[in-house]
Amino acid sequence: MPLPTQMRALHLPTISSSPQITLRTVPLPTVVPGSVLVRVLAAQVSQKFHDIYSGKVGFTLAPDMILGGGYAIGRVAQPGPDTTSLPVGKLVMLQSFLRARDNPEEIQAVWGSFDGGLPASREWIEKNWKNGCYAEYVLAPLENVEPLDEEKLCGAKEEGGLGYSVEDLLQLPVQLVEMGGWKGIGLQAGERVIVAPATGQFGGAAVEVAVAMGAGQVIAMGRNMEILKRIQGCYPKGKVEIVPMTGDEDGDAQKLTSWGSVDAYLDISPAAATGSTHVSSCFKALRNYGRVSLMGILPEGLSATYAMVVWKSLTIKGQYMYDRADARQIVRMAESGVLRLGPETGVEVVGKFKLDEIDQAWHVAANNTEFGKLIALNP
Ligand SMILES: NC(=O)c1ccc[n+]([C@@H]2O[C@H](COP(=O)([O-])OP(=O)(O)OC[C@H]3O[C@@H](n4cnc5c(N)ncnc54)[C@H](OP(=O)(O)O)[C@@H]3O)[C@@H](O)[C@H]2O)c1
Repeated sequence: MPLPTQMRALHLPTISSSPQITLRTVPLPTVVPGSVLVRVLAAQVSQKFHDIYSGKVGFTLAPDMILGGGYAIGRVAQPGPDTTSLPVGKLVMLQSFLRARDNPEEIQAVWGSFDGGLPASREWIEKNWKNGCYAEYVLAPLENVEPLDEEKLCGAKEEGGLGYSVEDLLQLPVQLVEMGGWKGIGLQAGERVIVAPATGQFGGAAVEVAVAMGAGQVIAMGRNMEILKRIQGCYPKGKVEIVPMTGDEDGDAQKLTSWGSVDAYLDISPAAATGSTHVSSCFKALRNYGRVSLMGILPEGLSATYAMVVWKSLTIKGQYMYDRADARQIVRMAESGVLRLGPETGVEVVGKFKLDEIDQAWHVAANNTEFGKLIALNP
């Protein structure tokens, strides 16, 4: 099929308290070396994206952009001239961590969500990758496109496939973020680990990823017992234990050690959790030589005391996103069935919308912010 010369896309002139999002017909992007044109099949919609576009999160984005984060599933429409493994029609996962090829450690951004905030990263995004996936087609950096085994992932179960829908696959780029956290602290098979808070989109995903990576037991901590129980119900008895955040720092720490010593802790707290006692409880629950992955966005100091970190010989690792190789690994884990997606992990698709239904999609997203609610845009 010849490609069209134009496409429909959702356009955002600039971040504003009342974002002026319009559906436009724009020229199809031109494929250049190092890029792939992808036909978008499903892109994730979440309240957080709307919060970013309305300036509530404080992230910066290039003006005059096609919106949509890089959490999407699509098909290769036109590979760039230097592409070697992505034929036309190949099902692919797009992932959102953008790094400048000549300076990957310094120039970083999150596709469609944050231009990195530095003058150099902002300029790089503005010139290259400001347009996101809320469009019929998106021009993606080659290294952010991961091929998927469609027969395995989406094939019928009776024929050896896993029976996932394209929307189910939207969990993969979220799970990828959590894999970055666990790999950063070297999660070992058989270990007992804590995820806190475990009831958000990323926290909930961290539980399944830890189990898939071989954790012996995951302790999911959070305020919402209903969601924690739903997550626990997705695993064999004893694999996932749940602990409520009660605000009793020592009592919660004790509860976290009810099942034995704790090897590692992944924190993914949003700014709203500033001052919550759960961080101290989790640090207290760790065994000597325990490891911590900090992935959240708490603006204020760590509540763990300097002395505790020293006396317990703790390792604290900050983790922003993941390494490129992790994208291949998360896909292989899903293709092999080790990592699960979809309803088995407590995640249901609560809405599927077309580009011209974006307002309805935002509405549904605003009412489904907790872990397990997936909203898809199918351009
Ligand atoms: N490091 C990275 O690479 C990376 C990548 C992606 C996201 N993040 C960050 O991760 C954070 C979480 O993201 P998310 O998408 O999972 O957020 P989310 O879906 O909004 O979930 C927020 C979580 O925080 C909990 N929470 C909210 N207020 C709290 C409080 N006062 N005390 C204790 N818990 C509280 C919520 O619990 P309830 O269910 O009880 O409300 C929920 O579990 C964000 O800040 C995001 O910026 C980091």
